[in-house]
Amino acid sequence: MMNRILFGWLLVLLAACQTEPQEKPDEYYLKYGDSLSAVAFQTIRGALQTAIADSGIEKAVRYCQLNALSLTHQFNTDSIKISRLAERYRNPQNQLTAESQPVWESYQSAIATGDSLHSVIVRTTHQVDYYKPILLQAMCSSCHGQPDSNIPASLLSVIDSLYPNDLAKGFSEGELRGVWQIRFQLP
Ligand code: HEC
Repeated sequence: MMNRILFGWLLVLLAACQTEPQEKPDEYYLKYGDSLSAVAFQTIRGALQTAIADSGIEKAVRYCQLNALSLTHQFNTDSIKISRLAERYRNPQNQLTAESQPVWESYQSAIATGDSLHSVIVRTTHQVDYYKPILLQAMCSSCHGQPDSNIPASLLSVIDSLYPNDLAKGFSEGELRGVWQIRFQLP
């Protein structure tokens, strides 16, 4: 009888030991995601600033079209995938997914109630998703701001010819432009 009870406890302990070492807390993914998104953001913004300085803002749009996705994906590994997603997207490959929609809506309700926006972790069985809000800065307005005041007419026509179905104009400084999504695949 005693042995059976002990054996039962041993099974419980073993099960606990097998799952626990794999489980990393949300803080781990929040830190990891914060550093990866910061590096990716600096890389994209830096490349864009160089393109604008070298060849002017109109050619920089074309540069962005050719390079934005590969600049974002260059930090991917077998188990980590980085994306920029938006409800009002310029490139349809960046549109919100079914999984990111609820996070987007939670950011919208936070904005409506005047709360600040934070990075969040969403877990499913095989993956951990990190999200971080992307806010519009002053330097983004020439390509994503108000068509009648922020975007020069010649630039507007370049954007519209490269992206005939563009939804990513009309943003104001500080507005929620999109989200970083970093997907960590669990073993
Ligand atoms: C020179 C023009 C230009 C500037 C300046 C610019 N962007 Fe963009 N942005 C683009 C283009 C073009 C795309 C589409 C890239 C593609 O086709 O993959 C884009 C895509 C994006 C996306 C991905 C979602 C989507 O709509 O496809 C986000 C998010 C974004 N920009 C945010 C910003 C932010 C934040 C800034 C300022 C730090 C900024 N952009 C500055 C031209 C610009």
